[in-house]
Amino acid sequence: MIKILTIIGARPQIIKAAALSRAIKNSFADKIKEVIVHTGQHYDDNMSEVFFDELDIPRPNYNLNVGSGTHGKQTAFMIEGIEEILMKEKPDRIVLYGDTNSTLAGAVAASKLLIPVVHIEAGLRSFNKAMPEEINRILCDHISTLLFSPTKTGYDNLVKEGFRENNTAPYSADNPKIFHCGDVMFDNSLYFSEVAEKTTDILEKNGLEKDQFILATVHRNNNTDEPVRLNSLFRALYTIANENNCKVVLPLHPRTAKLLSKNLSSELYSNIKTSSLIKIISPVSFLEMIALEKNASLIMTDSGGVQKEAYFFRKPCIILRAETEWVELVECGSAKIADADEKKIIEAFEYFKERKGLEFPHIFGDGKAAEFICSQMLAL
Ligand code: UD1
Ligand code: UDP
Repeated sequence: MIKILTIIGARPQIIKAAALSRAIKNSFADKIKEVIVHTGQHYDDNMSEVFFDELDIPRPNYNLNVGSGTHGKQTAFMIEGIEEILMKEKPDRIVLYGDTNSTLAGAVAASKLLIPVVHIEAGLRSFNKAMPEEINRILCDHISTLLFSPTKTGYDNLVKEGFRENNTAPYSADNPKIFHCGDVMFDNSLYFSEVAEKTTDILEKNGLEKDQFILATVHRNNNTDEPVRLNSLFRALYTIANENNCKVVLPLHPRTAKLLSKNLSSELYSNIKTSSLIKIISPVSFLEMIALEKNASLIMTDSGGVQKEAYFFRKPCIILRAETEWVELVECGSAKIADADEKKIIEAFEYFKERKGLEFPHIFGDGKAAEFICSQMLAL
């Protein structure tokens, strides 16, 4: 029996963790004991609590209640709290997801205690170090022992950064092992896809009809905090909605919700708020989100996870960033990068409106990435 300690904190990590906890429960219960630490980076009920029962995630054994703060303060507080728990629990591995401050804090605390770091979603790069997540993921990867990349591009990025492909066990931070293993979020999307539409009434509740609306999300710091970009994005949404008489539903991240009135021009803010076509709603549960994604005609987002889910559910996607880590989506032709550029966003919308027969090749694994990760953690 090995003991793993899983760090969660931000919304997407809580959702990703469901796949591994499910695999442990179904196939590795006698071999892997999981201790879950929630850093408390996300804390609103609709950013955290809502996911546990819905996705059958075990309740965290610890919650550090870090809350919001500057990067340094937030990360430092988490490192201190995680270190204390690691010294008490003495796990055999620490499991970290993605690229948030919670990921970085876990990686720093564990590696200094010589606890092997398992990084799920390793190798992804935007090649933009102005993005806080790029720093987090590079640092985490380079002190990890087992690195699980969901895509071939992610795996290749690691090789280019000097990770050797033929290292053999026993593995360590100095002799790490890299894998291209599929995506735990693909596991989750397959698993929850059917139940999502049966159990939620999110479409009816918001007066939405299949293929008759656009789903949009915005939360990246450079979009929310830079008024020029935020105005450009929302002007594009407003124009597309009005010119096409098309509803746009926006489950809005609290970061964006807090900045909308401050950073949008008062005219645009008022237009958006009073528009009958633009529906700004609170963050939704994962099952509700899947129902929205499956029924939208098109998805616009700056989220990493939502870009991929657009692909899983075979929807065209407009990426509201200057670059993406998920380059395969753009290469396959189902996604377009439009940045926060009003003109490019509208052009991308027009392009997809005319486009039929988009291709969505299977590139995110077989829906069993979590099982693979569990078996490799045991073999370490
Ligand atoms: C974080 C991650 C980002 C990830 C996103 C997922 C970092 C550096 N960023 O960004 O990679 O894509 O989570 O959603 O770790 N807030 C609330 N309630 C909450 C949580 C946040 O009101 O429950 C507000 C606070 O005003 C806070 C702001 O959102 O200051 C930003 O939260 P934070 O966790 O720092 O970063 P995110 O933008 O959520
Ligand atoms: N999500 C959700 N409710 C929402 C918005 C997003 O459940 O209102 C889910 C979404 O389906 C995806 C994950 O949250 O699985 C993505 O998280 P987010 O966009 O916050 O972060 P990112 O993936 O960009 O790090």
